[in-house]
Amino acid sequence: MKWHQAHTSWFFETFVLRPYLAYYKPFREEFRWLFNSYYNSLGEEIPEKSLRASLSRPSLDEVLAFRAHVDGAMEQLLEGQIHDDAARRIILGLNHEQQHQELMLTDIKHAFFSNPLRPAYDAAPFAEGPDVSPSEFMWHRFHDGLAEIGYPIDSTNSLDFCYDNETPRHKVYLEAFRIANRAVTCREYLEFMSDDGYARPELWLSEGWEAVKKQKWRAPLYWERDATDSSGWRIFTLRGWHPLSALLETPVCHVSFFEAGALARWRGCRLPTEAEWEHAATGRAILGNLLDNGRLHPAVASGDGLDQLFGDCWEWTASAYTGYPGYRALPGALGEYNGKFMSSQMILRGGSCVTPASHLRASYRNFFPPATRWQFTGIRLAA
Ligand SMILES: [Fe+2]
Repeated sequence: MKWHQAHTSWFFETFVLRPYLAYYKPFREEFRWLFNSYYNSLGEEIPEKSLRASLSRPSLDEVLAFRAHVDGAMEQLLEGQIHDDAARRIILGLNHEQQHQELMLTDIKHAFFSNPLRPAYDAAPFAEGPDVSPSEFMWHRFHDGLAEIGYPIDSTNSLDFCYDNETPRHKVYLEAFRIANRAVTCREYLEFMSDDGYARPELWLSEGWEAVKKQKWRAPLYWERDATDSSGWRIFTLRGWHPLSALLETPVCHVSFFEAGALARWRGCRLPTEAEWEHAATGRAILGNLLDNGRLHPAVASGDGLDQLFGDCWEWTASAYTGYPGYRALPGALGEYNGKFMSSQMILRGGSCVTPASHLRASYRNFFPPATRWQFTGIRLAA
């Protein structure tokens, strides 16, 4: 948590204050490399990522003092005339900080699960929603034809924001497709497990099957056997342990791309492409079970429309992370923000129950390596 706090402060110091605030005095010169995450073009060698969690110094007090120093300088900068380039970097810095706020919650969940005491981040129980019946599984059909995806940037507003990887907006041809009305539930995932889903190589991509054997995957991350529950399992959440039987209708989460794909094949379906997903989500309000409602865990779908597109779980797509036609990374070191990760990762869409609503768009592209499970990652079926 200290590292996230220091690194998000470092972002403003490095990309806004050093270049744009005259006479800015850095808090501590070594922090320029110590809290650099991955920007190689800044020059210095970057500390090994695995050290982040084990640096006991600087202390929390010093990190908070660094933050206060950066905040003070940002206020000073904001009192004067702001160059458009600086303003764009501030907006990027705020969006970057939102990403780290989400990462903090997913890291806390992982850290607390790794702790033998298994503490709860928030011991308060899930708020009881109105008594709703869960949505039946249904398909939503879309015709074939040309669609446009990518962020429609407002060229008359120099501060209109999206990440560089959401551009350029471009045409794609979509065959007719069907997309599920909601995410795959824990109940449906348990059926896949009960049907030996983890023991049938024909359902798995080769790399996924290797992961199943090597990592001994038998269930999603945070599931643990529990003979006292009728389902045989319990789930670790940010609100501590819950019997699976109480969460059966909620979306399954913390599955890898490989598990998502195996379940889809088992059902005779597939994952949506990112273009299909975006086409289905375009024009819909960014409403859903997001960080803002404070639940911190996926919730039951109960609507009768196309539900859970935003919030609950990031949805794995069948699309590899690559640049759109004509993609250009931002100039300079900030070009390393997104562009250099365009290999060996898959696209996820829609945000999760720990993503702030104001962070998302229909065109938003998240990406992770296919074996990743510590984010709130789930499954929506397509055909
Ligand atoms: Fe970062």
